[in-house]
Amino acid sequence: MPGIVLIGAQWGDEGKGKATDLIGTKVDYVARFNGGNNAGHTVVVGDESYALHLLPSGIISPTATPVIGNGVVVDPEVLLEEIDGLESRGVDCSRLLLSESAHIIAPYHRVLDKVTERFLGKHKIGTTGRGIGPAYADKINRVGIRVHDLFNAEHLHDKVEASLHQKNQMLVKLYNRRPIDVDQTTDELLKLGERLKPYVANTSLVLNKALDEGKTVLFEGGQATMLDVDHGTYPFVTSSNPTAGGACTGTGVGPTKITRVIGVSKAYVTRVGEGPFPTELFGEDGEWLRAQGHEYGVTTGRPRRCGWFDAVVNRYASQVNGLTDIVLTKLDVLTGLKEIPICVAYSVNGERHDDMPTDQAEFAAAKPIYETMPGWTEDISQVHAFEDLPQTCQDYVKRLEELSGCRISVIGTGPQRDHIIQINSLID
Ligand code: IMP
Repeated sequence: MPGIVLIGAQWGDEGKGKATDLIGTKVDYVARFNGGNNAGHTVVVGDESYALHLLPSGIISPTATPVIGNGVVVDPEVLLEEIDGLESRGVDCSRLLLSESAHIIAPYHRVLDKVTERFLGKHKIGTTGRGIGPAYADKINRVGIRVHDLFNAEHLHDKVEASLHQKNQMLVKLYNRRPIDVDQTTDELLKLGERLKPYVANTSLVLNKALDEGKTVLFEGGQATMLDVDHGTYPFVTSSNPTAGGACTGTGVGPTKITRVIGVSKAYVTRVGEGPFPTELFGEDGEWLRAQGHEYGVTTGRPRRCGWFDAVVNRYASQVNGLTDIVLTKLDVLTGLKEIPICVAYSVNGERHDDMPTDQAEFAAAKPIYETMPGWTEDISQVHAFEDLPQTCQDYVKRLEELSGCRISVIGTGPQRDHIIQINSLID
């Protein structure tokens, strides 16, 4: 009954798509459990590159069944566009299962995401503008619309009306915008629902049965630990739980079914949007990392903020997720550096912190305490055994492992599927 959770250990964009794809060929189900089309994975298969936002990376695998769990917020238009795009390139999406309990991102959520960000001014979060926060807010406020609501016109109209009642007052009176029409919104959602119907299922039941039958399920997290609404750098976070616990609530599978928790980390750190980032580099080094690592968002195209590896973040991720393995990606990006700094602790107002401060004012004031390791110049993309890496490269990885408090089981050495070093198997 292997239940494997795969999450981001930093601020997102760690290369989870590649890791999912790597183990996706050996699993029966790949289930997304949080977030929505704010995520973006690039999966490279042969010469083809796929940019996915909402669909689980397992959609590319010919054997796994892709699942969108109840914890995901689904923009029906985006999902259908993504399905059409893949089908036109010969990728069969008919196996997709969509939870009937997942919440819908309606057009008004996208409008609200943009206007509230503008209204926040200097306090803005730097969201992806996809309506994620407003859709989750409706879920918690109990005025959300779920997938199964799309199949009953009267019921849906009632729900849209309830949801828009207060929002239209806000849009008109506070944000100086036009009100959103209930009838038109209901009709649009009904049409989209018709097209989604073939994919809809009781995914909690499907996944539990699969696990009971000894099948392997990979639970794929969107975003990452430091963007978790509870455990991340609040308020500069997303509105869901991308940490390992979210895999259970976001799919309806109990914690006793989880056998592995794999965290994906870059060999350095990136972040998009606002919020504190202790190891951020502003000068030439930051530009160099961005250029070498092609650090531009898959979803928004925004340049990512870049910095050195932060071991405090990774230790924290090991702790809050209960990590069993780390997949270290993009090690090749660091090739050519004479020396590589690693942040081992923070100095906060002159005091050393080895652990993550929970007070966000302290985290915002944290200055990295660096240890410096020698770099390497050799091309590592064709190396497939850890022992064949340059000695300084091995030492760098070993030090990251020691500081993170979790073993590094896979190393990414380039963008292609076979650019990896596998130290431990990710499946029992
Ligand atoms: P939202 O999820 O669109 O509400 O954005 C909230 C914060 O999470 C912003 O800082 C976004 O840039 C960040 N964010 C959301 N999704 C991702 C992702 O997949 N990778 C990296 N950052 C993300």
